[in-house]
Amino acid sequence: MDGNGRWAARHGNTRTFGHEQGIEAVRSTVEGAGEIGISWLTLFAFSTENWSRPREEVEALMGLLVYAIEAETDNLMKNNVTVRVIGDTGMLPGHVKEKLHSCIDRLKNNTGLKVVLALSYSSKWEITEAVRKIAADACASKISPADINSELFEKYLSTAGIPDPELLIRTSGEYRISNFLLWQIAYSELYFTEKLWPDFRKEDLFEAIADFQCRERRFGMTSEQIAG
Ligand code: FPP
Repeated sequence: MDGNGRWAARHGNTRTFGHEQGIEAVRSTVEGAGEIGISWLTLFAFSTENWSRPREEVEALMGLLVYAIEAETDNLMKNNVTVRVIGDTGMLPGHVKEKLHSCIDRLKNNTGLKVVLALSYSSKWEITEAVRKIAADACASKISPADINSELFEKYLSTAGIPDPELLIRTSGEYRISNFLLWQIAYSELYFTEKLWPDFRKEDLFEAIADFQCRERRFGMTSEQIAG
């Protein structure tokens, strides 16, 4: 969800105002994903690297997160949505963790769209943590080095149990991955749009999916094999 700051600058306003406007884009995207039967939607809301932003901006983003949870939980409940968080959540302030956990708990029996919030998340953090836990389990003889393969490795990632993304969308005309789901996007289709995140709406999601539907996903095979 990139481009909140540039959107704000173009509208002669503060970066916080840009983030606030980003919430409407989140609402529309979640609604659209539910409407068309998407099972999983992961939103990169705050990266490990974002902790290095000015203190006021970090505080504003944490405040917005709490505000969005309070304002949207009823709506998420009505729309049968569940929420899960991936990331180094120990870094989040206590009141943010509490709000998140009570929202997750309230929605836990829903059966529709599963929204994954990447918060204080970075792929290098996640992979390093996975390696640390694997090494600890090997030292404790719970696993042997010969057991380590990609299936086992995935069980140690924060996305364990979540399917790899089929489509990754990045807004704001930046052509970077920025430390997001590096392992999981090995075969994802990438879609870049010039739209800044606060202008993104469900119609833009549908456009990205229509583009995705025209792609041929070969997973290293040939077109003929896929057709067969
Ligand atoms: C990137 O834009 C955006 C963020 C770091 C924050 C995203 C947060 C929201 C959309 C609001 C709250 C989210 C939820 C899930 C309720 P940027 O600040 O890097 O923009 P720039 O590159 O134009 O400066």
